[in-house]
Formats: sequence, C-alpha cells, structure tokens
Amino acid sequence: MRSRLAELRLTEFKTFRDAVLPLRPMTTLIGRNSSGKSNALDGLEVLSRLAEGGDIVDVLDSRRGDEGALRGGIEGCPPHGSDHFRLGCGVSAFDRTGEGYVYLKFDVTVQVRPEPMIISERLTGLSEKQRSTRDPRGRIIHDLLRTTEADPRSGTVDATWYNGRRGRDPRASFRSDRLLISQLPLRLAGETDAERRVVTAAKDVLETLRGVFHLDPVPHLMRQYTISRDARLRRTAENLSAVVGRMTDDDPERFRQLVSHVQGLVDHEVAGIEVIRSPLNDVMIALKEDGALTPAREMSDGLLRFTAIATSLLRQGQDLDLGTRGTVSPTLVIEELENGLHPSQASQILDLVRQATREDTAQVIFTTHSPALLSALEPEEHGSVVVCFRDRTTGLSQLRKLPDVDGYPTLMAQGDLGTVVTSGLLEQAPVRSRDFTAFDRLMGID
Ligand SMILES: Nc1ncnc2c1ncn2[C@@H]1O[C@H](COP(=O)(O)OP(=O)(O)O)[C@@H](O)[C@H]1O
Ligand SMILES: [Mg+2]
Repeated sequence: MRSRLAELRLTEFKTFRDAVLPLRPMTTLIGRNSSGKSNALDGLEVLSRLAEGGDIVDVLDSRRGDEGALRGGIEGCPPHGSDHFRLGCGVSAFDRTGEGYVYLKFDVTVQVRPEPMIISERLTGLSEKQRSTRDPRGRIIHDLLRTTEADPRSGTVDATWYNGRRGRDPRASFRSDRLLISQLPLRLAGETDAERRVVTAAKDVLETLRGVFHLDPVPHLMRQYTISRDARLRRTAENLSAVVGRMTDDDPERFRQLVSHVQGLVDHEVAGIEVIRSPLNDVMIALKEDGALTPAREMSDGLLRFTAIATSLLRQGQDLDLGTRGTVSPTLVIEELENGLHPSQASQILDLVRQATREDTAQVIFTTHSPALLSALEPEEHGSVVVCFRDRTTGLSQLRKLPDVDGYPTLMAQGDLGTVVTSGLLEQAPVRSRDFTAFDRLMGID
C-alpha cells in the first residue's frame, strides 16, 4: 500500500473549528450551499501548497504553476476575527522498512497578521515496533518534531526532534516563513536510525500532501488546439486533447475504455474519438459521428467536462500536472462531480471513481448536489459520505459521517439516499419525529 491521506483536520480554518474530515480512498462530501464544503477543500489545498516548501505568502497568494492564488488568499484563511489558522492531516504511511511509522499526524499553525509566519508545528508517528508511550490501541506514539518557541523578530522558530538517544532531544532554530518539515531533510544530519526515520516521515507527509490535485475542468478552454507534448493534465483541463493524444499511443487499452464511456454518455451514434492535427502539429480531440468529425471546438460543455474527468480517473491520476510536486498516489479533488451530466449518467461516473480508487492507486474526494448520484451509491459506501452543515447557533461548519446523522437508519428504510434527500418521501413519512427534522435540515430539505 502507498501512503494516503486518512483525515484532514480543520482545527481553526475559515468556518471550521475542531472539525475532522475523514478520508477514504473515495470520499463524498455533501451539504447545502455555503455549508463549508469548499472551505474544507480549501484547507486541503493550503496544506498541499505549503508542502511544496516555499514561502508561505508566495505559495498561498501567488499562482502555483498555472493555478491562480488560493481562494481568498492567505488573508482569507483564519476564521473571521482571528489572526491565525490551524490545519492538520493524518497519513496512513507506507512502511518501507517494516520499522517505520504506520500512521503520521501533522499539524501546523500559521499566523497571518501582523507578519505571516509559522508559529507552531508538530509531527507525530505511530509505530507498531518500538516501545514507549502507547496509544489506546496499544501502538506507540513518537513525537517526531515539535516546535517550542517562535521568535517573530528573528523570523525563526525553535523545534526539537526525536533522535532515539536518551537524555534531552536535540533542538535548533528553523526559518518560520515555510514549513519546518520541509526544512528537515536539509537540517538533520540523520546520525541515528531514529533521526533518519523522522526525515522519512516528514517526506512521506510532504509527498502525500503534494499529490493533492484539484481538477476543475473549464470547457471553453478545452475548445482549442494544444501543443501535443503538453500532455500533463492541468487543473482546468485546457490541454485535455494533448493528454488524450498521448493516451492513444501509450495506453490504448484505457483509451478504448474512454471511447466506450463517451459512447455510453451520448444519445447518438459515436464511432470513436480521433485526435486531429493542425498544420503546426497541434492537437484537438474530435468525435467520429455519422462519417463526420465533431472537433472539441464544437463539443458540448458537459461532454468535454466528462471527458476530462473520465480521462483522469481512468489514468488514476497518472497524467496530472503535479509540477515539482510528488508523483506518489495522487488525491484527486473534484467539485460537483456530476456538473453538466444528465442524471442517468450518475452511476457511470461513480463507476469510474470506484475503479480509480479500487487498487489504492489514487484517492478521490468529490462534492455533489446530485440526488441521482447519491442514489447510485451502495449502502456500504454511505460510510464514506460526509455531511457538511452549519451549526445554527454558532454558525460554525460541522462534518458528520452520513450513518452518524440522527434519523439515518429510519430514513434509509424509506428509500434510497437521493429520494430521501429530495424530500418527497419525507413529507409523506408516517411519523415525523425530531429525527426527521434534524435530518431534513442537514440535508437541506427544510
Ligand atoms: N475566513 C472565513 N471566516 C469565516 N467564514 C468564512 C471565511 N471564509 C469564508 N467564510 C464563509 O464560508 C461560506 C462559504 O462556504 P463554502 O465552503 O464556499 O460553501 P459550499 O459548501 O457551498 O462550498 C460563506 O458563508 C462565507 O461567509
Ligand atoms: Mg462550494
């Protein structure tokens, strides 16, 4: 198994306080408008950008690759009225040696005003081998790196780390303008096994976070010719044609699957997908229909968006433009997965997600508002659905696994998830209990 994200901790971030988003290979995030779904995903993007190791302000406020600044920039991260934000994640680690850590936990607090800087950071590792403090499940917890004191005047923050020797742990000053764990590989000599494991653990967390990729296809940008060697999919999928073009050569089996998914999507006869070339040898995909070719320039928004998502899922995120970011198992984030698709296609796109995540090669997190898509989920997949809602009194966003929502068992007995969410059924429910009222509100039915 590769390292993968097991949870995102939104300790103090935008609308969240002490919230945890559990992450499975496939995670579905649902909730009404403004409940905080995108805020949660912004939190993941912040961690991913910080993991690049650059200056905090640079990575959050300026463009990264072809991506724009983070939504709201660094100033938008702290909850309103606060001057700092705090985020964390859990990583199920790939234990290379059999003696490393099976679970890594990372947390960071960033002060935004007056001067942006890291004010605290902590990396802990859970191991099944060494003996010391144990967690409730009998595993062993090591504080791998922990900051002690930040000094705004010198732009530094002091930290100690685990080196396996008895006595005081070593400590040193680190720069406070970027993640400490990104400075570790250069700062630690790796004199002991323990120290080398600390560096490996830091790298594991950084690589897993760097693998987060927000796919946000913009159909009108896909309607142009692209340079054929520009074959790493960008966030907007503007270079989709080049990626598909490369697939026809390198991965004919998956290209065939892509064609059959596109054929399954449309109502009319599609004989195949062709990659057409301009006089300059730039490429554009085209549908072969009734003996004629329909180039991307003329294709529908929905079909283009679907083709981009299907391509990245079929390739299990292998062609993503992760830039200097890691290439280890990517985490694809897709907002409104069903956007532009007919409800009857919900199960088809869901199958693609299942297929992409089945072998643990990729992880997928998506949001949806589609009842059809929710209905297409198997009951055993409901554990990976997380409901996001705002607490009525505090206004804070909260996250709850679908099966833990009040009223879930009663309501599921009445119909499938999509039907329940679209309310019709609830109105006719024989007994309207408090359960139902709470459930309705969280699902956005009132
Ligand atoms: N820094 C912040 N502090 C508090 N609230 C915020 C902050 N940034 C955004 N919000 C609030 O978050 C809400 C938008 O949440 P969002 O996650 O975009 O919703 P959705 O669930 O539709 O994706 C808005 O009500 C906005 O006021
Ligand atoms: Mg949103």
